[in-house]
Amino acid sequence: MTAASKVLDRVLVLEMVRVTEAAAIAASTLVGRGDEEAADAAAVEAMRAALNELDMDGTVVIGEGERDEAPMLFIGEKVGTGTGPAIDIALDPLEGTTICAKAGPNSLAVLAIAEGGGLLNAPDVYMQKIAVGPGYPEGIIDLDRSPTENVRAVAEAKGVAPGDIIVCVLDRPRHQEMIAELRALGCGVMLIGDGDVAGVIATTDPDTTIDMYMGSGGAPEGVLACAALRCVGGQFKGRLLFRNDDERARAAKWGVTDLDRQYDLCELARGDVIFAATGVTNGSLLAGVKRRGGRMTTESVVMRASSGTVRWVKGEHRLDR
Ligand code: FBP
Repeated sequence: MTAASKVLDRVLVLEMVRVTEAAAIAASTLVGRGDEEAADAAAVEAMRAALNELDMDGTVVIGEGERDEAPMLFIGEKVGTGTGPAIDIALDPLEGTTICAKAGPNSLAVLAIAEGGGLLNAPDVYMQKIAVGPGYPEGIIDLDRSPTENVRAVAEAKGVAPGDIIVCVLDRPRHQEMIAELRALGCGVMLIGDGDVAGVIATTDPDTTIDMYMGSGGAPEGVLACAALRCVGGQFKGRLLFRNDDERARAAKWGVTDLDRQYDLCELARGDVIFAATGVTNGSLLAGVKRRGGRMTTESVVMRASSGTVRWVKGEHRLDR
């Protein structure tokens, strides 16, 4: 076990929950208030303060944006007390800002950490994604195959008809053609307004009835979702999508040389990885923050790739302390 791995093991696993709790609690005061920016800012500030209390030499590799566009938790920002081994951090203090502003489902505070170099420095561009839960033969999904081919392969392995497969997709005009193709196969298409970290993770939980995730969303969210899948199982493929030369240049800056590469789960989140999330609003993964009298309750999950341990943490917080 390397020094960094020991730190992941002994010190940071449960500490991570404090960090996502702090962000979720801060954002929760703005649920349904229609102000995405204020909710995001509150979560960012709280997450940064909590991270800076941890004994680690952390570097944000996926954060709120590049240094010139994000005042806090920008890519490259150092967090933690600076003691201990180097740890890479991917974070999204408020995943689903619009959901939070509208009090919709599945808004989360999310964090993943890995030993240095373990998380792809994904630029803030789109990523074409496909995911499936655990228990399928390796390589069952592939972005070079059509949605129809992927659904047929998963249906065959599951022993059901393609029309029995439920696919989660972000409700966006850019997905119209794919949605039509899936519906022509008879699939159930579960459209979500936002929040594809939860959408991808939902494929790992049979209670959600979601078999697959397909479509394009944020690349940073893709890496965060992969950190979770590395812990609980499942398969994921991702390919960065560039809309212009500026986005291609940004990718090159972060060391992405093969722009057409289809990334596998283990290339997006490598080695020992820890993933933590706290619910801001109620969702398929976690309940949201609730205030009752002078108390607040939070629900979080923290999981680790090397051990496969998943811990569900319910927090009760006093508002007067
Ligand atoms: P934010 O929290 O940054 O608002 O992201 C929400 C989200 O729905 C992500 O889950 C998803 O990856 C991305 O936006 C999709 O982007 P777009 O809204 O541009 O389609």
